[in-house]
Amino acid sequence: MRRKMIAGNWKMNKTLPEATALLTAIAEGLPADAAPGVAVVVCPPALYLVPALPLLRPGSAVLLGAQNCAQQAAGAYTGEISAAMLHSVGVTYVVLGHSERRHYFGETNALVAEKVRLALTNKLLPIFCCGESAAVRAHGDYLGFVKTQLSESLFHLSAEAFGNVVVAYEPLWAIGSGKPATAAQAQQVHAALRQHIAQRYGAAVAAATLILYGGSITPSDVDPFLCEPDIDGALVGGASLHAREFIALVRAAQRAVAGPAVVAAPVA
Ligand code: PGA
Repeated sequence: MRRKMIAGNWKMNKTLPEATALLTAIAEGLPADAAPGVAVVVCPPALYLVPALPLLRPGSAVLLGAQNCAQQAAGAYTGEISAAMLHSVGVTYVVLGHSERRHYFGETNALVAEKVRLALTNKLLPIFCCGESAAVRAHGDYLGFVKTQLSESLFHLSAEAFGNVVVAYEPLWAIGSGKPATAAQAQQVHAALRQHIAQRYGAAVAAATLILYGGSITPSDVDPFLCEPDIDGALVGGASLHAREFIALVRAAQRAVAGPAVVAAPVA
């Protein structure tokens, strides 16, 4: 069985004291053995990655992710942060192709493909985001749209390299809206993405790929998503800014991994 993952994307939120308090609460709430079978990732703003490390170590189950990396390896690119730099400070994951980067910073599938390549070359694990707008969904071929995002951004990878990628399906109409997709809507897209991966890389790679759902997920609505066969966890924005909610999401994933509790038979 695939493990689950809960990843928090803080976006451009929190001052340093606020970030420190949030990370401390998350680390305290999730010691190393807190959630077996669940990978927990926190993606604070880049500025807080270095101070985050000592807060999460030792004995924490939480790994660090960046929200972006530069599209170049190194050099005269003022203001940018490279994949190699992120890896060198102890970052494990990097979110790439988020819809806000595509929308506000003009990132295309081709550019995301290059960032994915740079991330993997520098031993960062990409959390690759895809997802359709409301207009694309209304038009009908949203499955084709997300499959194209996947092929154009990831299918240059070898099967071995692809095995290091986490996919996140994040419909734009659900992100930050307070209204998640239904679990059935997400499952339909996740199944299509997994099948698309199987066609390119084979059934074993597809079966091993983590596909997260993202878009207004909170602890009160996550359970049905975690029960779906092709939904392996969540990429969480708003709810990841509150320790209690984020920890509750991790606990929900842990319950889903553990399966239904065995009720002990009464002793005769
Ligand atoms: P949200 O953001 O949970 O606030 O909708 C999700 C995301 O953008 O990754």
